[in-house]
Amino acid sequence: MSLTDLAVQRCISPSCGATYSTSEALVACGKCGSLLDVVYDWNRGKPPTSLKDFEQMWSRRHEPLRFSGVWRFHELLPFANPAAVVTVGEGQTLLQQADGVAKYVGLNAGRLYLQYEGMNPSGSFKDNGMSAAFTHARAIGAKRAACASTGNTSASLAMYCSVTKLMKAIIFVGSGKISYGKLAQALDYGALTVQIAGDFDDAMARVKEVSRDLGIYLVNSVNPFRLEGQKTIMFRVLEALRWEVPDWIVVPGGNLGNSSAFGKAFSELLELGLIDRAPRLAVINAVGANTLYELYENRKMRWDSATGDMCQACNYYKELDRDGKKASTLASAIEINRPVNLTKCLRALEVCDGVVREVTDQDIMDAKAQVGTGGIGCEPASAASVAGAKMLRREGVIAADDRVVCILTGHLLKDPTATVAYHTTDQDQFNKVLGSRGVKRASFANRAVAVPNDLDEIIKAIQLYS
Ligand code: F0G
Repeated sequence: MSLTDLAVQRCISPSCGATYSTSEALVACGKCGSLLDVVYDWNRGKPPTSLKDFEQMWSRRHEPLRFSGVWRFHELLPFANPAAVVTVGEGQTLLQQADGVAKYVGLNAGRLYLQYEGMNPSGSFKDNGMSAAFTHARAIGAKRAACASTGNTSASLAMYCSVTKLMKAIIFVGSGKISYGKLAQALDYGALTVQIAGDFDDAMARVKEVSRDLGIYLVNSVNPFRLEGQKTIMFRVLEALRWEVPDWIVVPGGNLGNSSAFGKAFSELLELGLIDRAPRLAVINAVGANTLYELYENRKMRWDSATGDMCQACNYYKELDRDGKKASTLASAIEINRPVNLTKCLRALEVCDGVVREVTDQDIMDAKAQVGTGGIGCEPASAASVAGAKMLRREGVIAADDRVVCILTGHLLKDPTATVAYHTTDQDQFNKVLGSRGVKRASFANRAVAVPNDLDEIIKAIQLYS
């Protein structure tokens, strides 16, 4: 048996609460249409009595199960038997103290950490969730897997398919809506790539229909197993802080899978008595793709222990349709107006006393350049977390001495176009890529120096600029 008998899938709406076996591939409750959670019978499972117990796993890093940054926490996501997990070595990521970025954000030295998920095999945090989804898909015998993507989910899916040969990848992307770094991965890894004449929200709606009609396994974050893998990002953060809970987790918000997974991780750790408080959660939207911000901060939509009015979202989406409003940000990874995990994210914001902010593309690009100066580059969407932390610090919501962890979700090389345009001396290139999105300045540009092909001139330039 690949799947354990410790887990079921359960509707997140307590008034429904329908449960389903983990042997089913589901993306919504069959009775009420709400999202599903994977829930565990912790009394029969063997969760650790202390998070420190995980340190013993470090000495067993030669075993694939304990090498994986996801599966070494297997006891906290025990839906599959240890022998049946799929891993390609995901989750070897880094929590880096970043004093330069702390200064930029307005935090005291030693208080800002960057959780660099760009170190994953496909270059983004998605591999955490993909290893869990693949473990589930293999257990139930799926042959084809699909996703809609702004690029990272598709790169991760394509990579897991090509490495493991377990399934054939079919990816749906919006036309012209995906950066070259990510498209290159999907193409190179051999995924069937379907470019929809529309944006991510259109592709998402279509892939759900196609997967349902053709019986294809869907790996978007509506798949509850994906989020089980993404919980482990928080376990690694705690591990790197020697199991101390930080004051803040700051994460970009797109389809809201991460924020939802983080909330679930902390509520389970609280339930198990493994932590005594949850950190506060800040989810950061781009101004041009700000559904969560609009609903949570402006319209005060709340989970309210599942009694909140979820129709507020439907009404908002009707307004978007009426006004023909599409998501638009150069942080293409989070260019999403209809986040599929909205309700789970609202629940996470409740668990973690959360806040939501929106940041401009200018804020994002400047924060990104500051992160890069510290030597671990990220793609634009990731830098929304740093820009958001700066905003919250300026507002006094985050205090100067709070311990803050910003999640860097994807690697710099995912979207070199935006980075090169930011640093360029070519005004046309700047305007085309960034100016068209409202970015006016490259406040922290590191300009290339043009010199003639002449030894004296080169030496002169180096002496002048270094
Ligand atoms: N950052 C990056 C680099 C992403 O690729 C994504 C999502 C997010 C942040 C947002 O995360 O959805 O958990 O709120 N990318 C998806 C994709 C949508 O298709 O690759 P979220």
